[in-house]
Amino acid sequence: MKTPKFLLPVATAGVLALTLSACGGGSGGGSAPAAGGDAEQGLDGRGPITYVQGKDNSNVVRPLIEKWNAAHPNEKVTFKEQTDQADQQHDDLVQNFQAKNANYDVVSVDVVWTAEFAAKGWLQPLKDKMALDTSKMLKPTVESASYKGTLYAAPQNSDGGILYYRKDLVPTAPKTWDEMMQMCSIAKANNIGCFAGQYAKYEGLTVNASEAINSAGGSVLDKDGKPSLNTTEAKTGLENLAKAYADGNIPKEGITFQEEQGRQAFQDGKLLFHRNWPYVYNLAVTEGSSKVKDVLGMAALPGKDGPGASTLGGHSAGMSVYSKNKATAKDFLTFLTSEETQKFYAIQGSLAPVLGALYDDQELVAKLPYLPVLKTSIENAVPRPVTPFYPAVTKAIQENAYSAVKGEKTVESALADMQKSIESASAGQ
Ligand code: GLC
Repeated sequence: MKTPKFLLPVATAGVLALTLSACGGGSGGGSAPAAGGDAEQGLDGRGPITYVQGKDNSNVVRPLIEKWNAAHPNEKVTFKEQTDQADQQHDDLVQNFQAKNANYDVVSVDVVWTAEFAAKGWLQPLKDKMALDTSKMLKPTVESASYKGTLYAAPQNSDGGILYYRKDLVPTAPKTWDEMMQMCSIAKANNIGCFAGQYAKYEGLTVNASEAINSAGGSVLDKDGKPSLNTTEAKTGLENLAKAYADGNIPKEGITFQEEQGRQAFQDGKLLFHRNWPYVYNLAVTEGSSKVKDVLGMAALPGKDGPGASTLGGHSAGMSVYSKNKATAKDFLTFLTSEETQKFYAIQGSLAPVLGALYDDQELVAKLPYLPVLKTSIENAVPRPVTPFYPAVTKAIQENAYSAVKGEKTVESALADMQKSIESASAGQ
């Protein structure tokens, strides 16, 4: 019997199992350029820098930058805020790296972009003079900021999927998908939607489709890094989403949801269960308009026979090789990963720390009741495929999952097409 991915030690799942296998071993753009060139420039440079990140939904970036700027009047950081959509953030970074923009000094790198950006030679390797102490960080966060054994970005926030639910309507959270679907009668009786995650055609759908597959005991890649979507477990996983959408347990508007639309629907009291990231907790209990403030439950994602497996999310702060002020950028990375900043991220924005000890910090746990659930979610989380060709891989997953959920393609042919497209995406590796 195959061991489900979420039962494997995280390090195994992260490094061995999910690195797309190289076919033929050619470099094909897959290996980082030799040292020298842009990576040798500006190492001692100090002065103003820009920090680029997606929309600051949690309102944490500005206060942090104000604090930094007060202490570093000659090395001020300017915040360049992108949209709240993962794919647009990615494309904006790619365009600016291609243009060798020296003003994108420090950029927020989604865990799934590390391999691509590192292989393209856009991220400053964090070694030698630029080395960063990662010894106290959660292993999956360090692995997902590394490529071929070198650290390319500073782990900043981790992310694990959480099942948010209405404690007033559901006394005990469901542990399995089937249990959750049975509880949809409660949603019907209350005239609200039952469950939604993120099903618009973008990175979030790759996250959700992978979670459905992993939580049903399948996996996107097998332990040798080859796509393994032709299994009954993968079929059950994607079918769970497609069926729930067809029978209305996932409301029709769910197909347009990215993170923020889902959060809004849940906070407006329109959903019984909602899959989202930890940042939702803080907003759901503090925003004046939130209808779920006093009835917010949080649990592990539901699985097959027990808790399911989240997809590993998160962001790291990478330094552009084109930056002219890398000494300042390095200090800023150290600031972002410091215990004080990590505590601030958690308390202010309910973001998942990268420092392991904070999950057991009594003061923090007392303030943030979700920390133990989050730690379990991250520890059992399954990374998405690690490959410089990730854009093609995620496209294959998103497009086919989207068609299957919408009922435009059968689950079988969606999975067969996914399998084929991932194979050809990795063929050039
Ligand atoms: C969150 C996660 C990130 C993921 C994205 C998808 O930002 O941290 O890893 O890719 O959501 O929308």
